[in-house]
Amino acid sequence: MTHTTLWRDARLVTLQPGSAWAPVDDAALLVDAGHIRWVGPLADLPAALAPTIQAEQSLGGAMVTPGLVDCHTHLVYGGHRAAEFELRLQGASYEQIARAGGGILSTVAATRAATEEQLYASALPRARALLAEGVTTLEIKSGYGLSAEHEARCLRVARRLGQTLPVTVRTTSLAAHALPPEYTGQPDAYLDAAIAWLPQLQAAGLVDAVDAFCETIAFSPGQTRRMFDAARALGLPVKLHAEQLSNQHGAALAAGHGALSCDHLEHLDEAGIAAMAAAGTVAVLLPGAFYFLRESRLPPVAALRAAGVPMAIASDHNPGSSPGLSLLLMLNMACTLLRLTPEEAVLGATRHAAAALGLGASHGQLAPGCAADFVAWDLDHPRELAYWFGRNPCRRVVRNGVETCL
Ligand code: NIG
Ligand code: FE
Repeated sequence: MTHTTLWRDARLVTLQPGSAWAPVDDAALLVDAGHIRWVGPLADLPAALAPTIQAEQSLGGAMVTPGLVDCHTHLVYGGHRAAEFELRLQGASYEQIARAGGGILSTVAATRAATEEQLYASALPRARALLAEGVTTLEIKSGYGLSAEHEARCLRVARRLGQTLPVTVRTTSLAAHALPPEYTGQPDAYLDAAIAWLPQLQAAGLVDAVDAFCETIAFSPGQTRRMFDAARALGLPVKLHAEQLSNQHGAALAAGHGALSCDHLEHLDEAGIAAMAAAGTVAVLLPGAFYFLRESRLPPVAALRAAGVPMAIASDHNPGSSPGLSLLLMLNMACTLLRLTPEEAVLGATRHAAAALGLGASHGQLAPGCAADFVAWDLDHPRELAYWFGRNPCRRVVRNGVETCL
C-alpha cells in the first residue's frame, strides 16, 4: 500500500511534448498508486489536490527527468565474443565472421550450452549496470536460442529480470535473427518452425513484440514479411533490424506492417524514411554498434529529422556488435558520432524510446497518467546527460512511485 506522495523540491524536466528544455525550478510530482496524478511548479498545485497528499518527499533541489528507456537490447546470452573483436581488428569483417559460422551463431552455441540459471546469473549484473544509470524501462530480445525451447528460456530469463529488478521489461521475440545450424540451407523451413512456435510463446506471456534481422547474412525481405504477417495475425507489433549493413528496403516493409520501430538504419533511403514517417515508425539509432563495428556510413539523421521521424537511442547491448552497458555513453555518441542534438538524444532515450516500445502514452515523460518513473541527477541541465561520459550522475531512482535502492 503506497501513500499518495508529493515529491517536491525538484528542478523538473518533464519532456512532455512542447515542454521547456531547461529545468523548471521548485517543481513537484504528485504520485498516486505508482502513477503521476499531477506535475508542475509547486505554487500551481490545485487546491483540490492538497488534501489528498498523505506523504511528502524532498528531492533536494536535484534535476529530475523521466526514467531512461533502453528500447533495444539483446541482454540474455551465453559467453562473449572478445576473440571475434580481435579478429575484426586484424581485418576480418563482421559479415565474413558470420558467413564462416562465427558471429551470432557462436553466441547461439554458448547460449544453448548454458543453463537457464546461468543465463539469468550472467544477465543480472548487465541489467543492474543499465539500471544504475537511471534506466527504468528495458527491452530485451531473444534471438540467441533459435529453437522453441531455447528461445522460451531466454524470454523467461528476460521476464524474470523484470520481476526481480525495479525495471519494466518488454520482451521481443527475435527468432528471425540467424539461421540455426540444424536448418543450414533451409531458411524457409526454419521460418515455418519459428512461426509455428510463436503462438506458444505468446500464450505463455513471453512476447510483447516480434523483431527480425533483414540482411544478406540473415533473412530476406520476403522471409521477413512472412514473419511479420504471422506476428500481425497474432496481434503482435513488429520491429526490424533494418538497413544495418546494406539496403534491403526492410524499413519500408516494416512500416507497411505498422512497425513500432526500425533499428540501425545506416543504409536507409528516402523511400524508407517516407514510409516510416507515414506509419509513425520510430527510428532507433544504435551508436554503440556503429562505433564498435567501426562503420563509416552514418544513418541519415538530417533526413529523418526533416521528415519528422522520431529518433530513439538505445544501447543495442549484445556480445557481437555492442558490448557496452552505458545508455548515457550512447547519448554522448549519438551527438558526437551521429550528430544528434543533446535534446534529441535525451528524447531518444525517454519519450521516443518509449514510443518505440508501444509505451508512448505511459512512459518516457512526466505527465499526468504516466508511470511515476523518474530520476534525480547530480546535474544542472539535461544537456549534461549527453555531455559527460564515463561518469554516472544518477543519484536517486523512483519507479512506479517507489524509490529503488541503487
Ligand atoms: O543489433 N544485427 C543483428 N543483431 C545484433 C548483433 C548480434 C550479434 O552480433 O550477436 C545487432 O547489432
Ligand atoms: Fe540489435
